[in-house]
Amino acid sequence: MGLTTPQKKVIESKSRFRVLISGRRFGKTYLAINELARFARYPKKKVWYIAPSYRMAKSIVWHDLIDRLYKHKWVSTINHADLTVYLKNNSTISLRGADNEQSLRGVGLDFLVLDEFADMKDTAWTEVLRPTLSDRNGHALFTGTPRGFGNWSYNLFLKSETDDEWASFKYTTLEGGQVSANEIEQARADLDERTFQQEYEAGFVNYAGAIYYNFDREKNIMKEYTPQTRTIHIGMDFNIDPMVCVVSEIVNDKVYIYDEIQIYSSNTQEMTEEIKTRYKDYNITIYPDPASKQRKTSSGGITDLAILKNAGFNLKVRNTHPLIRDRINSVNAKLKNAKGNNSLFIASKCKNVIKSLERQIYKDGTTVPDKESGYDHFNDALGYMIEYLYPLRRDFKPTRPMRWS
Ligand SMILES: Nc1ncnc2c1ncn2[C@@H]1O[C@H](COP(=O)(O)OP(=O)(O)O)[C@@H](O)[C@H]1O
Ligand SMILES: [Mg+2]
Repeated sequence: MGLTTPQKKVIESKSRFRVLISGRRFGKTYLAINELARFARYPKKKVWYIAPSYRMAKSIVWHDLIDRLYKHKWVSTINHADLTVYLKNNSTISLRGADNEQSLRGVGLDFLVLDEFADMKDTAWTEVLRPTLSDRNGHALFTGTPRGFGNWSYNLFLKSETDDEWASFKYTTLEGGQVSANEIEQARADLDERTFQQEYEAGFVNYAGAIYYNFDREKNIMKEYTPQTRTIHIGMDFNIDPMVCVVSEIVNDKVYIYDEIQIYSSNTQEMTEEIKTRYKDYNITIYPDPASKQRKTSSGGITDLAILKNAGFNLKVRNTHPLIRDRINSVNAKLKNAKGNNSLFIASKCKNVIKSLERQIYKDGTTVPDKESGYDHFNDALGYMIEYLYPLRRDFKPTRPMRWS
């Protein structure tokens, strides 16, 4: 009781190393907690849960885990600082973040979960964690959404084909049963095709080549554009060389980029003046790089964000930096969603925006955007704005109440 049929398939496997690839909200983390408890119910076991970062481990799993262990009256003591639970049977369960490799060293483990392992460095596994399983013949469960053919998670997923110690599982979000078909259809409209495939259908997709692969000259370029209002939205990126912005009008959730500004060896003050000269008496909202909260490019010790604020612009800025991946995905989805609809258009006179969208690529075999060619600036400016206005849906309400087995 409690686990879904596909989750049960994973726990029934006797393989020492298991790899579970699935769409988001399948129930990987839920299953991972279940597995921690399943291994720790035997005495004197040492089991670890590892997330890509310490913060994620703490915020995603810690409370759920101790809640569940208390309910079963398994807890002896808890060390909150070390994210470790000592059980009455002398087993321990600890949470760790792969961002702190030092914290992963040492101990002999009986069981280990690497949750969202594609977002960790492969060396965290090969060099640091794999050896900790040797003394006690420990087991490992890898769970995550796919991150393309170039990511090490793909090789691990294939290992079961050639190595008997390994088993692989792959499920879509829909098969997980936690998200309704309706919500998944909504996601198809919000996301671009490749992202949808990856995040919901658990597909390994190709990340080689152009980053903005949905950009299509035929569909996304307007010969010219006459603004209908005096309300504009500006995405802004703060390099000194060059400092850039994209200027747009938004009508019915369609974004029309109709001007670009690029100033060399510039600062925020100068950019502010340029915008005010071009767009006098406009209602202007700016979506700057969140780094502008700390960054000071002008003399006088005032932050870039404060300069924009003092200039009287409306400011929309996230508290934390959005992932580059999320910015890219939201721009691709606006260029063309998984249903084939376009809602981001660029006037042909914005030559640099067009060039940047067309030419920025991933570094060979990685999901790291190339920044050396200089095509990143306009795309970053555009991405801050689009991601703010049209963020990817991260979370869903569960379709049924949470249960413990
Ligand atoms: N077997 C289950 N029974 C009840 N709720 C579940 C089950 N599996 C997952 N859930 C719930 O579904 C949601 C998504 O699960 P989660 O483990 O966070 O997914 P993932 O890690 O794959 O993104 C969570 O709210 C979780 O508590
Ligand atoms: Mg998860």
